Amino acid sequence: MNLILLGPPGAGKGTQAQELERRHKLVQLSTGDMLRAAIASGSDLGNEVKTIMDAGELVPDDIMIRMISERIDQPDCANGFILDGFPRTTAQAEALDKMLDEKDMKIDHVIEMSVDSEVLIKRIAGRFSCAGCGAGYHDEFQKPVQDGVCDHCSKTEFTRRPDDNPETVRTRLDTYEAQTAPLLPYYRGKESLRTVDAMAEIDVVTAEIETVIGGA
Ligand code: AP5
Repeated sequence: MNLILLGPPGAGKGTQAQELERRHKLVQLSTGDMLRAAIASGSDLGNEVKTIMDAGELVPDDIMIRMISERIDQPDCANGFILDGFPRTTAQAEALDKMLDEKDMKIDHVIEMSVDSEVLIKRIAGRFSCAGCGAGYHDEFQKPVQDGVCDHCSKTEFTRRPDDNPETVRTRLDTYEAQTAPLLPYYRGKESLRTVDAMAEIDVVTAEIETVIGGA
């Protein structure tokens, strides 16, 4: 089963992708995480994309399309994957259709995570991740069971993203509206889009997604 999670920054794409990965042995393909790993490694790609990401703008389509095409070819994707943060432009969506066709693969469900814009800043401002395994948390909405200890790998170090500051978040939200929201009619036209209420609590959203992926 191959899924796309669509939604603005802070909608909960990464949170739900991590949960679906654990439940269904799917691979979470977060383009944001891949780019952050490239920056952390100090590679040429990382140096090229850092300024763009710090500004909250989109990395060029050709880089992203190549990155996802190569990643989908890895053996661990054979059981299925969750695209989290890709596609983000119409050009990326069209390229994805073409590449999946060529690989004889398909997307089973495109899930829109619908959320009121006023909660997004609060969600992003409180977000942090485990420095060991990358599991996501929130100061208020998703605390670790034991304060300061990761639920999944027991590490005690956590990180916050440099692009989660209020100014960059506003640019990221504008970028989403201008360049990614037009994908909703694109997928609605293909009749593959289902919408879940991402304003609900995290496990309620998970249950709604389970209904979508189990029910078709
Ligand atoms: P990326 O890393 O993809 O960031 P994003 O799309 O801005 O999404 P976020 O990770 O901010 O939000 P999310 O929906 O995953 O929310 P989360 O689950 O963490 O991209 C970063 C940058 O990389 C881009 O700006 C761009 O520069 C570049 N990039 C990436 N892909 C690209 C592409 N394809 N093309 C071009 N450029 C690309 O949840 C947020 C918080 O809320 C968490 O703390 C969580 O605990 C909490 N939360 C989640 N769900 C709920 C809930 N239901 N109730 C209460 N709290 C909740």
